Amino acid sequence: MIDFIEVNNNSASAKIAFQGAHIFHYARKGEKPLLWLSEISDFEKGKAIRGGVPVCWPSFGMNNPDLPQHGFARTALFEHQSTKELDANTTEVILILKHSQETLSLWPYKFELELKVTVSDKLTIELTTTNLDDKTFKITQALHTYFSVSHISDAKIKGLDKKPYLDALTNEKLVQSEDIIFEKEVDRVYQEVEAEILLSDKDRTIHINNEGSSSVVVWNPWIEKAKRMSAMRDEAYNDFVCIESANAYEDFKLIDPRGTHTLKATIY
Ligand code: BG6
Repeated sequence: MIDFIEVNNNSASAKIAFQGAHIFHYARKGEKPLLWLSEISDFEKGKAIRGGVPVCWPSFGMNNPDLPQHGFARTALFEHQSTKELDANTTEVILILKHSQETLSLWPYKFELELKVTVSDKLTIELTTTNLDDKTFKITQALHTYFSVSHISDAKIKGLDKKPYLDALTNEKLVQSEDIIFEKEVDRVYQEVEAEILLSDKDRTIHINNEGSSSVVVWNPWIEKAKRMSAMRDEAYNDFVCIESANAYEDFKLIDPRGTHTLKATIY
């Protein structure tokens, strides 16, 4: 089992693991959880939790082929910097990861990575990278959010119509037409995204607003890939859709010495 922080205030509850600064539960008071969490996820040291909001950093997917898939932050142990009750409805938690011998052996840069989570009637996640090195470095990253849906056939994503995307399954560059529905495996990286994204489900609509990001990854493994996924039941693809607030592919960020970049997602 890994350690985590539990937040409970007048408007919502959340759970955040120190490993990976991984938010694995968020629900508004009296409402069902917004985040999907696999019932069979390992809560083991060194293994990413399946569900919630994995932090993919300093590389998204295999954007940097020298690093593990989705980077190393999601299995690294963050330090707890602070938990503050800003008011009866709002709690702020800050976790920090700094370079170490282990990270330097994988990725030769000094850095500080801060995840600030604000739990209120909205879930706000701010991932700030600071370059503490004397060389510029390049990052790609994502807040790889697993949203819980009543059934995948009820899920529809609005706000990406007419956006260009890379289909990661075929490597084709295409343009979205209309809303996204799920009838097969979907693994796409949308670019040039500035506006709000809506995930509409049978009985609720989730709003996603990203800042410091113009790429969004939409992923559902569907039937065959779900069978091959670790820590996921075969039928679990029916229960979630990933909409990932990202800086991926062409939306990479170059961070100069002493420079910072913040990727922010506001979800409600
Ligand atoms: C998504 C990728 O971001 O993450 C998918 O687009 C991948 O291709 C998925 O399968 C899950 O990755 P992992 O490493 O958590 O199994």
